[in-house]
This record gives sequence, structure tokens and C-alpha cells, in this order.
Amino acid sequence: MTSLSPPKETFLADYRVPDYLIDTVHLHFELGASDTHVRSVLSMRKNHQGLGGDCVLDGEHLELLSVKVDGQQLQGNEYQRTDKSLILSDLPDKFELEIETRIEPDKNTALEGLYHSGSLLCTQCEAEGFRRITYYLDRPDVMAVFTVSIVADKEQWPIMLANGNMEDQGQFDDGRHWTRWHDPHPKPSYLFALVAGDLYRQQDHFTTMSGREVSLQVYVDHENSHKCDHALTSLKQSMLWDEETYGREYDLDVFMIVAVNDFNMGAMENKGLNIFNSSCVLASPETATDADYHRIQGIVGHEYFHNWSGNRVTCRDWFQLSLKEGFTVLRDQQFSAAMNSEAVQRIDDVNQLRTMQFAEDAGPMAHPVRPASFIEISNFYTVTIYEKGAEVVGMIKTIVGDEGFRKGTDLYFDRHDGQAVTTDDFIKAIEDANDIALGQFKLWYSQAGTPELKLRGHYDVINHTYSLHVEQSCPQTPDELDKQAFHIPLAVGLLDEQGLPLLLQLEGEERAYKDFTRVLTLNESSQTFTFINIESEPVPSLLRGFSAPVKLDIPRSNTELEFLMANDSDSFNRWDAGQTLLINTLLALVNNVQLQQPLNIHKGLIEQFSTLLTSRKMDPALVAKMLTLPSENYLAAQMTVADVDAIHAARQFLKNSLARGLKQEFSDVYKQQNSTGKYQFNSDDMAKRSLKNLCLSYLVATDDPMQTQRCLKQMKQSDNMTDTISGLVALANQVGPEGEHALRAFYEQWKDDRLVVDKWLTVQAQSSLPDTLIRIKGLMKHPAFNIKNPNNVRALIGQFCRNNPINFHAKDGSGYQFLVEQIIILNKLNPQVASRMLGAFNSWRQYDASRQELMKKALNDIASQKDLSPDVYEVVTKYLAD
Ligand code: PHE
Ligand code: ZN
Repeated sequence: MTSLSPPKETFLADYRVPDYLIDTVHLHFELGASDTHVRSVLSMRKNHQGLGGDCVLDGEHLELLSVKVDGQQLQGNEYQRTDKSLILSDLPDKFELEIETRIEPDKNTALEGLYHSGSLLCTQCEAEGFRRITYYLDRPDVMAVFTVSIVADKEQWPIMLANGNMEDQGQFDDGRHWTRWHDPHPKPSYLFALVAGDLYRQQDHFTTMSGREVSLQVYVDHENSHKCDHALTSLKQSMLWDEETYGREYDLDVFMIVAVNDFNMGAMENKGLNIFNSSCVLASPETATDADYHRIQGIVGHEYFHNWSGNRVTCRDWFQLSLKEGFTVLRDQQFSAAMNSEAVQRIDDVNQLRTMQFAEDAGPMAHPVRPASFIEISNFYTVTIYEKGAEVVGMIKTIVGDEGFRKGTDLYFDRHDGQAVTTDDFIKAIEDANDIALGQFKLWYSQAGTPELKLRGHYDVINHTYSLHVEQSCPQTPDELDKQAFHIPLAVGLLDEQGLPLLLQLEGEERAYKDFTRVLTLNESSQTFTFINIESEPVPSLLRGFSAPVKLDIPRSNTELEFLMANDSDSFNRWDAGQTLLINTLLALVNNVQLQQPLNIHKGLIEQFSTLLTSRKMDPALVAKMLTLPSENYLAAQMTVADVDAIHAARQFLKNSLARGLKQEFSDVYKQQNSTGKYQFNSDDMAKRSLKNLCLSYLVATDDPMQTQRCLKQMKQSDNMTDTISGLVALANQVGPEGEHALRAFYEQWKDDRLVVDKWLTVQAQSSLPDTLIRIKGLMKHPAFNIKNPNNVRALIGQFCRNNPINFHAKDGSGYQFLVEQIIILNKLNPQVASRMLGAFNSWRQYDASRQELMKKALNDIASQKDLSPDVYEVVTKYLAD
């Protein structure tokens, strides 16, 4: 099918230590937009643990100017070159290697290596981008001390940054200037960074726990000078939190964050010089939503936390990616929970895991948290590595307890500081610090797939015991290994008829457990736990706080779910019971839609929602979460054959019914929560806005024209993007002139702010109105859209394909064809982004036969392209494999 021979697959089992090591690196850059000259001086030596032999340096898209060993220029016949490497033979034990290369940053649309973003020059080296700058041992287990000097025209590039501390700077007579940076901490090449351009700098400072002063600097385009405060506040919060929670202190004199507009991912933890997608740093009340503020805080934290979990202790090879990412995501989730609402944070994290990661685990790209092989490592920056990885580390924390976990991480950081290690090393440190064995637990790293727990409770009236029978299984994944039983921490509680917690005493135990929640250890495929002294039939609350990333199979009546929704002391489980109730209701409606039977919902549901809305006992943010209907994608994943149209119809029906049934309540709560104060980013205000805007979205679903006026009024009075965009979303999903008008006015107001323009693209991409694809095709030609900019692509194409199921899955296949065309273009420009877009086909086998046929054809159209990047090649082949 494909015309090229398949790209090479790399296996964990083939790992070998490097044959050569690099102690120090001196990089010298002469910067130019179209032409950059790089001189690299490496002090190298043979690794005596290695096999010896040739020295194979990685390098791609490089023009090689010269190679010198110990000052001696090599002739062309004294080295070998391929399109991916430079090979040197007959080397002494220790030597100095000097390499000069030339690169062309302005031709770099892949955004890996050194590239242009607007008028800036910047780098992105993770995972394998450094090899596009110079020939190097571009693997994370080669760690070196870097010194970097940069020379460029002073007017065009007044700011020139690299990792570490600035050592010196100066000027030449010809208008050029130079800076020299030194990073004393040995690091792998993927953490190298360089930035040059005309940037605004906002400064602050932080005093570390040992009293050291650190200068904090955020660099942004001049026009964004008013959008730095939030990132700086978040950074200071992160630094303090990491000292208090993990005992981790910052280790350089300066910490820099640079915002760039063209970036493949969210942000990057380069040592001392984090580079961020501008969408993940910049915030002002008028332009950023609460969700943006929250995300920025979390990502600033995430990148900062990498300074220890990732940089001081790094990964031995890319199969260990979750060593840094899973752990760091857990850390940023803990941080966000501490800064905001713990309950809401957990709900959001689990919701994202269940919608995205469970789908990945159930699809053709399923892979373990520590994959066994890959073709293109960029394809493995996945929700499995990140989010499931975080759950796995979170389970370890649950198993050893908070104190044990801290002891374990202290030992891990202490033992491995300055090293490149594996997930096994991480586990070993936790085991040693707690004197426990986690052998079976490690299966979470090597086995893919989402385990399923079948739970059955039985109450024995005569003996007053309650027994919980648990069977675990794990569905087959493409690696086709037989699954062994996992070690699963199952947090449970029992409630009596009044909803009060019961004491938990297992058969054979002398007294009841100290808490009303206890963690049961599942480690066999079938187990029974018997609780004694249970006076009447209890209601079990299972998997509290989502103590493990598993699916539950437990028969529950609506009455039982309503009871848990009202009484469970575990707020996550209260939300989850409500969601299960909604899913059951929706799936029943889907069934009726399919059978063309009349649709109705039971009164109890409206009553439940009414109580929630009016009780005022609960945090408004939690109420908003509980009233949010499960997404169409998540519902699709709950069906054997997803029925796109029926799901959409059922969900619309439920939304409209709740809206009409509770119109007065929604309206009252809307007014109650509508504060008039000035915008502030804090939990209380965010909670109020979230409930208010949720009410608005229901009110609009009543089809009452007055509610359109309410949206317009809200937009007009709003001093913040959260309220503005909520109004706009509601209008853009309605037929009528108001939506058009609001969209036009919004664009006029914000056309010079690219991040707001991305929101404008997204609102239109997500619209459920039937002409959406036509509109999108028009927008692709609009001056607001540039296919080379990943944020634009994600905002328009990505949002349409992933979050607009009714239109993307149009019966005529037009959505699929559209995506194919874009992927073919992106494959050439930016393979990473192309491959991410392809992810919209992940669940293609979940749909009906005719849609499957259309998607298969779409995938074949991509697979038959000439010159497929390894990124797209790997994903498309795995999707099409039987
Ligand atoms: N390491 C980055 C993070 O998780 C993500 C990233 C990967 C960014 C690859 C760019 C390229 O924080
Ligand atoms: Zn990360």
C-alpha cells in the first residue's frame, strides 16, 4: 500500500548503554533567520560499559561543514554519513570532537529543532529535535554540562537566552552582540533550549527555603505585556508548593519562561528556560477564561515540577517517558487540587481519563504506560503515558500512604540525582523506603488495557455479614499478551439506610478499621471480602475517589444511584453516581430513538436535579459538574455500536426536558450566582461562574427567545472571557441572526488577539448546526487561519473532528474526507500535528458498518500517500491492522 519501506521500529528489549559519553559541550551559534551556523565542541570518551566500536552520532536535515577530532580536520573519506547519522571510527579513549553545521530555521515547519515563530527564533528538542541542530548522541542517557554562546544582530535579536545562568555578554563593532550561558547541571540534549528575539520581560523573584534568591522572568511579545501576572503568580505558587510538599528546591539563579505562538505541544521543561505555547501562559480577564487560568496554573506547575521529576532525575530511554510525565502529572494535579477545589479537580481529571485514555486503551494504538516498542516516539506523548501514568503513581501513593510516598520520593530523588533512570528504579526506591514489595503492581507499567471489575454484593441476614465478590479481567489489546491479574487498590465504604457510614471490619479482624473508607487489595482474578457486624443491608460505595483506573460492572438501580448521589460522603462518588444515572437514562433514550418509540424521562431525575439546584448545601462548582451531561463521545464509547445520530438526539432531548422542567430553578440560580463584582481568578468566583453559565446553557435549551436576550445581555455586561464566551457558544449553536451577528462582532473586537481568535474558530468548529463543515472550509481561507500554526489547526480542524461528532461523522463521509485532505497537507508541513489530527479516527471500529466503511476508505487514502512521515505512517498502519 505504501510506497516507501516501513520506518524502523525501536524496541525496549534492545536497549544498550551508550558506547561513548559526552562530559562537556560548548555550543556556538551565529544566528540568522534563514541561515544559522552552529559550532559544537564536545569532550568525549569511550564508555567502558559499552561495546566499543564506531561512534554513531545522530543528525538530520543538517548541512555538515566540518569535523575535527582533537583539532585535526577529517577528510570526507575519514567518516561515514547517512541521512540520519555521522559515523566516526578508530577513535582514542578520550578526545575532543568539533563539528560545524549549517541549518535553515525559516524552512523548518515541523517545529522541531531550531525554528522561527513570528519574529522569534526558538528551539524544541524533546524528544529527538536536538539532532536537527547538530550531530550528537541524541539520547537521554547521555548527560553533559552545556555552555552556550550566541551571536546575532543586536537590533533584530536584542534578547538571547539559553539554559542556566548568564555568564557574560558583550558587543561587536558591526552591530552584533553576544551572550554566554552556562548550565552547571549535566543534562540530556532534549533539555537544551535557545531563544532569540525582541521580547518584553516581566520580572519577579522568589526566595527558596534555604534562602537563595531566584530571579523569575517571563518573556512575551510586547503586545502581551499585560498578560504575564498570572503565570508569574502560578510560578511562585509552584515553587513554594514543591518545597512544602516534596522538599524540592530550585537550583539555578534564574528561572525563565518564554511564550511562543507556534508550538506543537503545551509547554516544555528545558532546564531553567521553559518554552511555552503562548496559549498556556498568557492570561488577562478579558481574554482568558476560568478554564484557561486554571490550565495555565497547572501547566506552569507541571513544567516547573519537571525541574526535579525529569531534569535532575531524567529518563534512561524514551520507553521510560512516563517516569517523568506520569509522576509530574500527578504532581501538577496535586498542586491544582491544593490551589483550588480538590473535589472538582479529581472529577475533571477522572473525566478526562475516562473519555480520552479509556478510548485509547480500547483502540488500535493501545499501549502500556511503559511501551515495549515504537516507530516514532512523538506518537507516544499520549494520555496513557501522561494521565494513566499519573493514576499509576497515584495508586502507589494510595498503597503506601502519604508519608510513605514522601519517604519514597525523597529516596528516589536522593539516590538518582544526576542520573538517567527507569520506572523500575522509581518503584525500587518506593519499595526500599517502605519495605514493601510492588512486584505484581509493576504489571501496570507493562500491560495495556483498562481492567474491568465485576462486583457483586451479598447481604447475609442471619449472620449480619456483607460480602463483596470481585472478579477482575482485562480485555485483549493489540500486543496480544495474556493479561495477568493486577494489584488494584479498591477504596470502599458502606452506607446504612440513612446514608450514614458503617464501621468496616473484615472477617477475622479483631476490631473495626479506623476509617469509614478502606482500601481493599485486589491481587487475584477472583476474591471475596466479608464485612461483619453489619446490622442491615448496606449500600456499598465503591472505588472511592476513583482509587484505580478501572471500569466497574455492578448492577445498580436508579434508586440506589439517587441514594448515593445524595448521601455518599465521597464527593467523587456522589458525582459518579449522578453520571451513571444520566448515562443509564441517556442509553435508554438512545434505545427508544432507535426503535422510534416516544421519548420520556422519569420524574425522579428532575426532582433530583431540582434538589441539587435549590439545596445550596453544595459547592456551586460541584453542582455544575453534577448537572453537566456526559459527552456524546463518552456515550458513544458505552455502546457496542455507537449510533451518532441517536446519541445526539437523546442528549438533546434530555437537555431540553431538564431545561423545561426546571426553567424557574435555572433562572433563579442564574440570578443568584451572577455576581457583579470585578473578575477575579479564585475558587469561589470560578465556582459561581461555572454554575451560572451552566444554567445559561440550559435556559437557552428551552427555546425561549427571552433567553437569547439574556445571552446578549450577558455578553454586553461581561468584563471577562468566561462569561463572554458562554454567551457566544449558546448563540452560535442556535439558528437565527443573533448568532451570526454575535460572531461577527466578536471577531471585530478581537481580531488582533490570536488566542481569542482561536476561541472564535473553536466556537464555530464545535457548532452542532448542519452547515458547520461549509463554514469551516470558509474559515480555512480566512486571514485568521494559517495551517502552519498548530494552535489554529487544533482550534479549527481538531475541535471539529474530535468535539463535534454529529458533524464530523456526517453520513455522507464529508467530515472524514475533509480530515483526510488536511492530514495530507499537514503530513508534509508538520508530521507531529498531522499524526495528532489522525487521532480523530481512533475509535473508527466503534461505529456502524457504513461509517466504518467510509472511515476505512479515508484511512486507506492516507496510507496510500507517497512520502508518509513515520509519525503518520505508524498511526495509520496500526489503525488499519486487523
Ligand atoms: N515534555 C513536555 C511536557 O510534558 C511536553 C512536550 C513533549 C513538549 C514534546 C514538546 C515536545 O511538559
Ligand atoms: Zn511533562
